[in-house]
Amino acid sequence: MTSPTKKIKPLVAGNWKMNGTGADLREVRRLHTHLSKMKYGCDVAVCAPATLVHRLAAMKFGAKIMTGGQDCHAAEKGAHTGDVSAEMLKDAGAKWVIVGHSERRADVKRGGHGETSKIVREKMLAAQKAELRSIVCVGELLSERKAGDTLKVVGAQLRQSLPDTCSAADIVIAYEPVWAIGSGLTPSVEQISAVHAHIRKALVRRFGTPGGAMRILYGGSVKPSNASELMMIKDVNGALVGGASLKAQDFAGIIAAYQR
Ligand code: PGA
Repeated sequence: MTSPTKKIKPLVAGNWKMNGTGADLREVRRLHTHLSKMKYGCDVAVCAPATLVHRLAAMKFGAKIMTGGQDCHAAEKGAHTGDVSAEMLKDAGAKWVIVGHSERRADVKRGGHGETSKIVREKMLAAQKAELRSIVCVGELLSERKAGDTLKVVGAQLRQSLPDTCSAADIVIAYEPVWAIGSGLTPSVEQISAVHAHIRKALVRRFGTPGGAMRILYGGSVKPSNASELMMIKDVNGALVGGASLKAQDFAGIIAAYQR
């Protein structure tokens, strides 16, 4: 099979996590200024904390810097104190939502929410219903990598997290090895390449031709200094960026990997 990667428009998405108040939106304005001076061939999104989604969308950067949320509840509405539905994110101006980030999949003892792939799939369906695009995260723990279980773990997460109704238009996969997130560690080019090829194969096997067009992002300690090397790997169609998305200059430095 020839790789469809060349035809896929990459996505570089920032994940602000639980960082940022209104004042920090000036970084998005700065990012916009940087981007105005650049020629690049990728989509750009910022997934902000729920409190900032509306204000970010109201900055009206449109398709140049798309707005995203970081999670949504699987239900449309109801007695779920403190949660946000996909409908609400959409109403606030979001176009994207991250589902199944490892910080949410992690159990409560590790500061997470114990989300299973089944829950992730339900959230993805809710996002689809609200016409939000999902960034679905998968990735192995360090112990799973050491045990040689990476492909098995990622394959199972992928299989169980994606509903049958996925299309390249409404879904993006993000491979994020848990041990690479916020740690400054990145897998080798060979390691990333092996997982992305595995994901691509699984997507094509399950969804046919549309599976060949789905974007597969890499995430985990992406920074300006390693972005070009990582984004050149076959079947890497962009990045999900945590820490380095908080500062406009760093984030623009990563987007520059797609400079033309
Ligand atoms: P990082 O986070 O870039 O800070 O490692 C990535 C992520 O968790 O999405």
